[in-house]
Amino acid sequence: MQALLRLLRRGFEPLEAVGYRLFGGESPFHHLGALTIYLFWIVLVSGIYVFAFYHTSVAGAYESVQRLTEEQWWLGGVMRSLHRYASDAAVLTLGLHIFRELSRDHHRGPRWFSWITGVPNLWMVYMLGITGYWMVWDELAQYIAVATAELLDWLPIFTDPMARNFLTEGSLGDRFFTLLAFLHLLGLPLILVGTVWLHIQRISRPRINPPRRLALGTLLALLALSFVQPASSHAPADLTRAPQVLSLDWFYLAIYPLYDLFGAAVVWGVLWGGTLLLCALPWLPPRRRESVAEVDPAWCNGCRRCFGDCPYGAIEMAPHPDKRGKEISVVDPALCVSCGICEGACPSATPFRSVRELVSGIELPQYPVQVLRERARAAARRLSGPVRIVVFGCRHAADPAQVTGPDTASVPLVCAGMLPPSLVEYLIRREGVDGVVISGCRAGDCEYRLGTRWVEERLAGTREPHLRRNVPRERIAVCWSGPDAAMLRACVDGLRARLAARSRADEAGGGARPPAAAAGGGHG
Ligand code: HEM
Ligand code: SF4
Ligand code: SF4
Repeated sequence: MQALLRLLRRGFEPLEAVGYRLFGGESPFHHLGALTIYLFWIVLVSGIYVFAFYHTSVAGAYESVQRLTEEQWWLGGVMRSLHRYASDAAVLTLGLHIFRELSRDHHRGPRWFSWITGVPNLWMVYMLGITGYWMVWDELAQYIAVATAELLDWLPIFTDPMARNFLTEGSLGDRFFTLLAFLHLLGLPLILVGTVWLHIQRISRPRINPPRRLALGTLLALLALSFVQPASSHAPADLTRAPQVLSLDWFYLAIYPLYDLFGAAVVWGVLWGGTLLLCALPWLPPRRRESVAEVDPAWCNGCRRCFGDCPYGAIEMAPHPDKRGKEISVVDPALCVSCGICEGACPSATPFRSVRELVSGIELPQYPVQVLRERARAAARRLSGPVRIVVFGCRHAADPAQVTGPDTASVPLVCAGMLPPSLVEYLIRREGVDGVVISGCRAGDCEYRLGTRWVEERLAGTREPHLRRNVPRERIAVCWSGPDAAMLRACVDGLRARLAARSRADEAGGGARPPAAAAGGGHG
C-alpha cells in the first residue's frame, strides 16, 4: 500500500512543481479543499438565479430551462453554464484533493477523522449532481431517471417499484418535480454544509477560502468557458421512446454506462465497495504512532502560545495544578500529530537560558529543545570558511544534508515551525554563525498546515515568540523549497553570495558589520 502511495505522490510531483513555479504559494494544488468550497459558492449563486426561472412541473421544467438558455443567453444562459461547469470543476478539485491527501499519507494516524468525514461529502456531491441533471427533464434526464429508478429498485427498499413512475407521461406527476427541487435545492445542500462543517472540525484555522487571485482566475476561466461553450439540453424527455444518442457528463454520470454494461449488482458493488475501501484506508495498515508532545508543569506558565499555534487543536488550557490562578496546556494524544510546532512556540524554549539541562514547557520527547540546541551548536562549531551557514531543514522538504560542506552544516527539524526563533539569534550572536537558512515545505503547503506561516510571522515580529528586532535579518533566509533540492541549493548559495558581498563592502569601507536591517527573510 505504501509503495502505491509513494507512486501516487511521485505522479503528483511534476504537476505540483509546475503549479508552484507558475503561481508560488497560490498554486491551485495548495488550495484544493478551499477551491472546492469556492466552486460550491459559484454553484449556489448561479443555481439561485436559474431556479428563479424554473418551473417545477412535468410540462414546464424543460421549457423553462430552454427559455432561460435561449432568450436570456447573455445572463440566464451564462448562469446555467456557470452552474454546470462549476459543478464539474468541483468534482475535479475534489478528486485531486482526495488523491493528494492520500498520496501524502494524511489519511492515517490522528488525521483519520478528516478522511472519514470526507467520505459522506463525496456521496452528497454526486447526489446533488445527479438530481441536478434530472431537473432539466430532457432525454439525458430521462435516461438517468429510468436507470436510477432501476438501480434503486434493485435494493430491497421500496415496496412499489420506482421505475413504474417513468413508464408513461401520465405516471409522472408534478409532485415528483417538487420533491426533486426540494432535494436538489435544500435537502442535499444543507446536508453537504453539515458534512463539510464536520470535515474541518479537527483542523484549527481551516483554509476555506482560496487566495483572491486564484478565486478570480477560476471565475474568469469558468465565465470564458460558459460563453465559448454554453451549456445546452438534449431533446425534451419522451417516455414513449428510449433516448438514442446522449452526450454524458462523465464527471457525474459515469456510473450509468457501467449499469448498462454490467447491471445493478456491479454498480452497487463498485459504489459500496469503494466507500468501504475509502473508510478502511486509514487502517491499511494503521500508522505507527510517534510520541506526542509533552507538557512540563514546572515550565508552563499558561501563556497560551502553543494553544494558539497548534494546527490540529490538540491543546486545551486547564487550571495549573501548581501555580495558583495560572493555566497549563494539556495535550490530547488522540489529536496530536507530533509536529513539534508547539515546541517552537513556547517561550521557555529559549537556548539562552543558562540552565544545564534546557527543558521547555512543551516539547516532543523524541526531539526535545535541549537536543535541538545541542545539534545546532555542534553544527555551528564544525563550520569553517569565510561565510559559515547553518541550514535548519524540515524533514518533509529537500534533505538539507545535500547542501552541506565545510562551510554549511544542517540541522533537521520535524517541521520548520518547531524552530524557536531565539535559536537563530543564538547561532548568530553566541556561535558566530554568518547566516541561517530555514527550509521547509512549499509556501502555503506545510505538511502540518501552519508551520511555514508561523515561521514567517515570528521572523517578521508579528507573532510570539518573535525574533528580536536587533537580529540582522540579512543574515537569515527562509526557503520554502519543498522537495526541490536545486531550489534549496540556490537559496543557500544566494545567501552566501550576499553575505560575502556585504563583507567585502564592509572591508572596503573599513567598517564593522552593519546593524540589523528591518526586512524579514524573503522566499529563496
Ligand atoms: C465537499 C467535499 C470536500 C471539501 C469541500 C473539502 C474541504 C476541505 C478543507 C477546506 C480542508 C482543510 C484544508 C486546510 O485548511 O488545510 C480539508 C482537509 C482534508 N480533507 Fe477535505 N474536503 C472535501 C472532501 C474530502 C474527501 C472526500 C476526503 C477523503 C475521503 C477529504 C480528505 C481530507 C483530509 C484527509 C483533510 C485533512 C488534511 C490535513 O490534515 O492536513 N476531503 N478538506
Ligand atoms: S506536536 Fe503539533 S499537533 Fe501535537 S500538540 Fe504540538 S503543535 Fe499540536
Ligand atoms: S507555550 Fe509553553 S508556557 Fe505557553 S502555554 Fe504552552 S507550554 Fe505553557
